Amino acid sequence: MPFFPQMTAPLGVSMEDLTETRDYANFDPYWYVKHYVAPDEAVIGMQTDLDHLHKIGGKRLLDIGTGPTIHNVISASRHLDEIFLSDYAPQNLEYLQKWLKKDISEPTKIMDYVISLEGCKMTAEQRENEIREKVRGILPIVVTS
Ligand SMILES: C[S@@+](CC[C@H](N)C(=O)[O-])C[C@H]1O[C@@H](n2cnc3c(N)ncnc32)[C@H](O)[C@@H]1O
Repeated sequence: MPFFPQMTAPLGVSMEDLTETRDYANFDPYWYVKHYVAPDEAVIGMQTDLDHLHKIGGKRLLDIGTGPTIHNVISASRHLDEIFLSDYAPQNLEYLQKWLKKDISEPTKIMDYVISLEGCKMTAEQRENEIREKVRGILPIVVTS
């Protein structure tokens, strides 16, 4: 992760004082999105990633460790037919399922930034729905070395 520290905390426990961890069993997707994805200034830190991701293309994409945010596949979705999201933490898979069912939205600022890179005229909601239509699966995948 180039920009975001890998922070987690036990579910229901304040994560303010925690630092880097690999304890993803306790990854709290709601906390992560609230603090690292939803704030308006988050898009500034994501710009380098989003600018590079803007160049990705292909037919089918499997995103590993999607977490509770689909920002890594927004650009690619325009050039792909099928997208698979994945994570090993059940709470992130559940979060992504809620996103797929439209119970949760990706922060608008991030969607708008990618739309502006493409020079498109569409709303964040339209684009998000376009991505949802291409999602073929939300998979429990564990990557081990
Ligand atoms: C810091 S989050 C990144 C989330 C999102 N992709 C992003 O760029 O903001 C890392 C994600 O990878 C997942 N993860 C960590 N280790 C993993 C492993 N060994 N196999 C699969 N997923 C893993 C975590 O559950 C977490 O959602």
